[in-house]
Amino acid sequence: MKKNIVILGTQWGDEGKGKIVDYLSSKSSYAVRYHGGHNAGHTLVVNKKKIILHLIPSGVLHSNVIGIISNGVVISIFDLVKEIKMLEKNHVFVSKRLFISHAASLILPFHIAIDIAREKRLGVNAIGTTGRGIGPAYEDKIARRSIRVGDLKNEKTLSIKLSKIVDYYNDQLVSIYKCQPFDCKVILKDLLEAKNIIIDMIQDTTVILNNAIKNKKIIIFEGAQGSLLDIDHGTYPYVTSSNSTIGGVITGTGVGPKNLDYILGVTKAYSTRVGNGPFPTELHNDIDAYLSKKGNEFGSTTGRKRRTGWLDGIALHHSVQLNSLSALCITKLDVLDNLEEIKICIAYRNVNTLEIYTSVSFDNLENMQPIYETHPGWMKKTSGIKKIEDLPHAAKNYIKCIEKIAGIPVHMISTGPERNDTIVVKHPFL
Ligand code: IMP
Repeated sequence: MKKNIVILGTQWGDEGKGKIVDYLSSKSSYAVRYHGGHNAGHTLVVNKKKIILHLIPSGVLHSNVIGIISNGVVISIFDLVKEIKMLEKNHVFVSKRLFISHAASLILPFHIAIDIAREKRLGVNAIGTTGRGIGPAYEDKIARRSIRVGDLKNEKTLSIKLSKIVDYYNDQLVSIYKCQPFDCKVILKDLLEAKNIIIDMIQDTTVILNNAIKNKKIIIFEGAQGSLLDIDHGTYPYVTSSNSTIGGVITGTGVGPKNLDYILGVTKAYSTRVGNGPFPTELHNDIDAYLSKKGNEFGSTTGRKRRTGWLDGIALHHSVQLNSLSALCITKLDVLDNLEEIKICIAYRNVNTLEIYTSVSFDNLENMQPIYETHPGWMKKTSGIKKIEDLPHAAKNYIKCIEKIAGIPVHMISTGPERNDTIVVKHPFL
């Protein structure tokens, strides 16, 4: 039986990973968020109730699961506390089963202010960030000036570090961006108040996870964003600031690669992207309007309309390679139910040289035009189907085509937002 499973997105995020983590977590002991921050938005529907988690791993909705926010995450303590309280309102109590790495870097209010100010200044060239301070917080981590979660335990050190970093940001905010400066004392007071709620959760999560592995516990590592937003392997500079590909699990947790038994790539049956950057299969027609509406393609963190397009098989194959994926989980298949034709990109044509590519360097994606294979739609309701044999013939063929282009099998298919609207072709734990 496989013990340690990674679930990550193969596209530009919003693939529906949260639901799949939640579905598989009933059998696991730990759920781990290992990179990114509250830029993520994992939407779960349990008993018709919608819950959106930004920072806390989705697996915690099962009371048997211990949640871990490990060292690779950038944490806004204020948003974490808000999320803990939101869960309590929904009768999910995590205070004794959520652990936060002492080594995770904090996102503080000035990170958010500078993220927003920079984007504003970039105008049409903006990255389209979520405005959550993710980039500036990771910059501080690399520049070795972060305040880390562990610093919250020592008021004196915290106060000295905070004063230095507030000065650093106030200089830029005031002189370059003409924003109001931050008051160090106010941030310190707020931090000390929030700290009281999470102080017992601060741990060395690397030790917790490696002990769990020694004790043969089942762990689910829950990716955020998607592989094509990875800082190294994505559509740079239109990316997030962390490694959303498989390497992020290793550096973001302190668990070695030999301990990862299975890597599931979650892929929406079509494509979406929020924010700017190249998107070869993007649509600007009535199919875009259909996908947006039927798929409810609006950001769960920022509410922005997501750009939509056909499934990009070339980008998918790239993600399979980047992550050594074991298998795929196809989500939102039911969104395609009313389409007469469904297209999938099987190659790119360079608009300048007219050369055709069946694999691609992400260096020149903006010059790539998709070449499509067209499939007949199934024009039947698939939502809520739980067995692969009950899918219409055309839907099964579409899945087979995805398997062929990706070069790996599809092990799961999601046919609706509810936990149980799921087809398991082969269970990831088996
Ligand atoms: P940041 O992560 O807020 O810096 O944003 C950088 C890019 O990543 C922007 O294009 C965002 O729209 C995108 N992004 C960040 N988090 C998510 C997510 O959870 N889903 C989809 N896109 C995201």
